[in-house]
Amino acid sequence: MTNQWMVNEINKIKKEKKALILAHNYQIPEVQEVADIVGDSLALSKAAAEAKEEIIVFCGVHFMAESAKILSPEKKILLPAIDAGCPMADMVTAYKLKEYKKNNPNTAIVCYVNSSAEVKAESDVCCTSSNALKVVNSLEEDKIMFVPDKNLGNFIKGKVKDKEVEVWPGFCITHHRVKGLEIDRIREAQPDAEILVHPECNKEVVEKADFIGSTSQIINYARKSNNKKFIIGTEMGVLHKLEKENPDKKFYLLSPGLICTNMKKTSLEDVYNALKEEKNSVLIEEDIRKKALKPLNRMLSL
Ligand code: 13P
Ligand code: SF4
Repeated sequence: MTNQWMVNEINKIKKEKKALILAHNYQIPEVQEVADIVGDSLALSKAAAEAKEEIIVFCGVHFMAESAKILSPEKKILLPAIDAGCPMADMVTAYKLKEYKKNNPNTAIVCYVNSSAEVKAESDVCCTSSNALKVVNSLEEDKIMFVPDKNLGNFIKGKVKDKEVEVWPGFCITHHRVKGLEIDRIREAQPDAEILVHPECNKEVVEKADFIGSTSQIINYARKSNNKKFIIGTEMGVLHKLEKENPDKKFYLLSPGLICTNMKKTSLEDVYNALKEEKNSVLIEEDIRKKALKPLNRMLSL
């Protein structure tokens, strides 16, 4: 089977079944190209919630497809690579969070969407990297626990003045490994380039960057900037859109380690098989789903 044959089949079956294909900005180029919408976590959550289609093929990792299912239980949400998880999402459990809540009853739990449905069910409000500050500022509580990403949590903590923000000790294994020294070296080699990084990077990287934002915020920034050279401090998948949309600009990856193996698990063949056989449907226990829906809806209503 050639790629072109598979692309044609995917488009044909998609029409017949009235399905929608969503892909995260970190997916491989071939998968991004067959998707109806390519975006960051927030855009994809909104698209899943608003979609009229009854079948959604979610090309991303498990928590993303799960969030779509929480928002749209009546739809069939298919995850083409069923073993594509997020190691950071596994760094907080509902059990540990419940224990924390017992000891800290007046603290609001802000939950990054990179988390399980069970953890969301124990949280007050969800956020993504593009709206985390807005979400935290919208809360009445003075004390916040940010789960599970300590890097995004600390980035927000530095921007919030009137609240006490505690962070859970989780992190993204892909972004966290980038070193401040890598920024210093690249700055010296490319002094005229702008450095754009994701807030999942650690403090020493974030502090030295020119712009910090979600995957789509990075893409939008590069599109609007008059600069011609950019150093990209997030997963390499974003390079596809950046290069496609800006043929006159140059993009370099900040670190060779910026590859998320889980985001790279979805192949074109997986998309084809999931769509054709309607397999890898994401399921959630109804009482957990109902509880997890509240913090997600609270985020989306902001
Ligand atoms: P965003 O697309 O929201 O920036 O998320 C990044 C990420 O790590 C998703 O797993
Ligand atoms: Fe999880 Fe990091 Fe991969 Fe995103 S890039 S899915 S946070 S491991």
